[in-house]
Amino acid sequence: MRAFEARNAHFDRLVNTPDLKWLGQNTNHCKPHPAVVEAMVRCARDEAFHVYAPPAGLEALRAGIVADLGLPGQAALVSDGAVASLYHACHTLLRPGDEFVTTDPTWNWPMAFARAVGATVRQIPIYGPEHGYRLDPARLAEAVGPKTKLVYLVDPNNPLGSVCTADEIGAIVAIVREAGAYLIHDCTYRHFAYEHHLAAALDPERTLTVYSFSKWLGLAGLRVGAMVAHPDMVERLAAAPPNNLGSSLLAQRAALAGLAVKDEWFPGVLAEQRGNQALVKAAVDAIPGLAMPVYPSNGNFVVIECDALGIRPEALVAAYAEHDIMIRQGAYHTPTFGDRFVKVSVSVPRAWVEEFVDLLPAMVERARGTNAPTTLF
Ligand SMILES: Cc1ncc(COP(=O)(O)O)c(C=O)c1O
Repeated sequence: MRAFEARNAHFDRLVNTPDLKWLGQNTNHCKPHPAVVEAMVRCARDEAFHVYAPPAGLEALRAGIVADLGLPGQAALVSDGAVASLYHACHTLLRPGDEFVTTDPTWNWPMAFARAVGATVRQIPIYGPEHGYRLDPARLAEAVGPKTKLVYLVDPNNPLGSVCTADEIGAIVAIVREAGAYLIHDCTYRHFAYEHHLAAALDPERTLTVYSFSKWLGLAGLRVGAMVAHPDMVERLAAAPPNNLGSSLLAQRAALAGLAVKDEWFPGVLAEQRGNQALVKAAVDAIPGLAMPVYPSNGNFVVIECDALGIRPEALVAAYAEHDIMIRQGAYHTPTFGDRFVKVSVSVPRAWVEEFVDLLPAMVERARGTNAPTTLF
């Protein structure tokens, strides 16, 4: 079977497993606000889906995204999820021979997009206590060179859950400007952070801010996100976008409704997932050899290190899969550090997390006994 068929069959199995507990993809399974569901029902019932949406997105949604970020003067280009914005930015801004700089770990797909247009990728390792699980701007300064065109910063970092300080963002912005490059500030997990600093507030011309409704609002299956940037940059991006016929109207209506109820609804989600993080931390602390290197996490997920126990992350993932619980092996994010950890997503019902932590001691034992190679994606 070809690789893409195997990968697809794997995810097809997952989405068709009733009652699967999704603790592996940083999706948000908290109960949606009724207004969000109603917006989708209304769109379907009124058959508002026969028409194309405006190419850059509903005006109210574009304004809502910019307001949510607090970046007046910037423009939003709505896309089929944040990933489509990342794809499009890489294809628009990179040429063969350009260099794309990011961290290790990072979110991998933009590296594939950069390579697809002939750019080279340079990764700065940030995993490990020696780096504090974060990007020291001095190391970015060493890594950028005359060919650097794009710096891709996932902040909060997926999978680590670390976030840049105001000083770090200031230094990163200065380095990118000095290099004559652009910064893609991937803020997909911004809403879960204890504090978060937007690079675009410091350099609105060289920063492209990536926005997603998949995580904070829980709309991953609907595919809606945006790129927010200087109007001149958006003019450039809007010249030949993949979704020139607009993104899903149903998804945009849901996103608009979500922004309208965000202040009322989201604090509960945030408190719930932070409580879930605490449950996981207590369970990890109870097993000598397991560790959570970044706690609390600024994302809706945590990293659990299992290498000190001699357990392969894939074996732990496979053990949980026997209980219909999906968690993610580190290798999904990084071949270099992936044998050290698993990632567990916690914006999920409390009962799922309770099942995860109750099983942890037994799963560790099960994984010890089954360290055979497993194919995962
Ligand atoms: C850092 C990062 N950026 C972007 C995405 C994709 O977001 P979307 O679902 O909006 O395409 C993800 C998904 O996991 C992610 O982790």
